[in-house]
Amino acid sequence: MGVTSLQVIKCKAAVAWEPNKPLVIEEIEVAPPEANEVRIKIVSTAVCHTDLYHLLERMPKDGFPTVLGHEAAGIVESVGPGVTEFQPGDKVIPLFLSQCKECRFCKSTKTNQCELAWKRTRQDVMAGVETRFTCKGKKILQFTGTSTFSEYTVIDQIAVAKIDPDAPLDKVCLIGCGICTGYGAAVNTAKVEPGSTCAVFGLGAVGLAAVMGCKAAGAKRIIAVDVNPEKAEKAKALGATDFVNPKDHNKPIHEVLAEMTNGGVDFSVECVGKVEVMRSALESCVPAWGVSVIVGWTELSDIVIQPVHLIAGRTWKGSLFGGFKSKDGVTGMVKAYLDKKIQLDEFITHNMTLDQVNDAIELMKHGKCVRVVMSVSPQ
Ligand code: APR
Ligand code: ZN
Repeated sequence: MGVTSLQVIKCKAAVAWEPNKPLVIEEIEVAPPEANEVRIKIVSTAVCHTDLYHLLERMPKDGFPTVLGHEAAGIVESVGPGVTEFQPGDKVIPLFLSQCKECRFCKSTKTNQCELAWKRTRQDVMAGVETRFTCKGKKILQFTGTSTFSEYTVIDQIAVAKIDPDAPLDKVCLIGCGICTGYGAAVNTAKVEPGSTCAVFGLGAVGLAAVMGCKAAGAKRIIAVDVNPEKAEKAKALGATDFVNPKDHNKPIHEVLAEMTNGGVDFSVECVGKVEVMRSALESCVPAWGVSVIVGWTELSDIVIQPVHLIAGRTWKGSLFGGFKSKDGVTGMVKAYLDKKIQLDEFITHNMTLDQVNDAIELMKHGKCVRVVMSVSPQ
């Protein structure tokens, strides 16, 4: 297909017109890809807590109207001028964090940040300013520069990962966010060591993936912590050796963990997004060498700790997208799934269609699912 023949596509998308309101299935117009852009037919997308955070919790409530969704897989429909890495028909995963491979961050082995992420794909953390979507004559923002609750989307090629043609899109879509975020936080950021003791706080898809990462790294003991007792079984299926519900104890959770582990765990990972849990996760580490990693996202409050908690020898780190360079990491994790080195099917508790997106959001809001995978377009 020649570049000049590209047309606007009219298709179905779930539009978030305003905060705290149900999404509305609308017909939107998706412009052809411009230079260095790729237009993708989304086949499968999951709902992640970050979609809910933007819709329901984030303050200030800017970034609307938008199309949410950032954990997905699809097929390239067309490419804009200058795109050589992708061709129509390629299976791909959209990336909310780009990897341009040319900036000083991409060239460094110390980080997975990409300088161009902010310049080209999204000028605000949660909403790209350059959008290719319109609906009823209005500009619709592309959430995290991706917007996968839509039959088609347009993304800069630095934020698209090509994946194995054999990959089942209704499974590997989870690799676009939650799986890499949790797994990588344990393996890449905490650098969990063989024989170590770990604690994972929060057992959504992100925390369960962190449990899987701790196990892959050879941890001997993995203590899964959640206020929802229904999460225990899944955590154990993915490698947790213990489950602790803070509500079952009348003392702070870090004291409970210290008693269980002779003074604290070697590694802890926070996958909730609440500052009080981030503090508990830090204090649950053994003071001499414990490493605690913050994964959960919030901009709603500051964290307060006593400096002595760090002075004794603990390390406190943050992790975005599990420290994975996004293109390389996603391609590699899809291969790891095909080689049966990581589990994905266990994370999928529901299958739906895009029309049921509000039901999927309700399930996640009430902790009744791990991941809901929605089919968007037929393959
Ligand atoms: N202590 C322990 N667990 C908690 C607590 C708490 N105080 N409060 C909530 N939880 C648990 C919930 O019961 C739920 O099982 O945290 C889990 C969060 O899971 P999900 O809502 O499914 O979220 P998920 O998609 O896994 O994302 C988790 O990571 O990437 C970030 O933005 C994302 O902040 C979010 C976090
Ligand atoms: Zn996400």
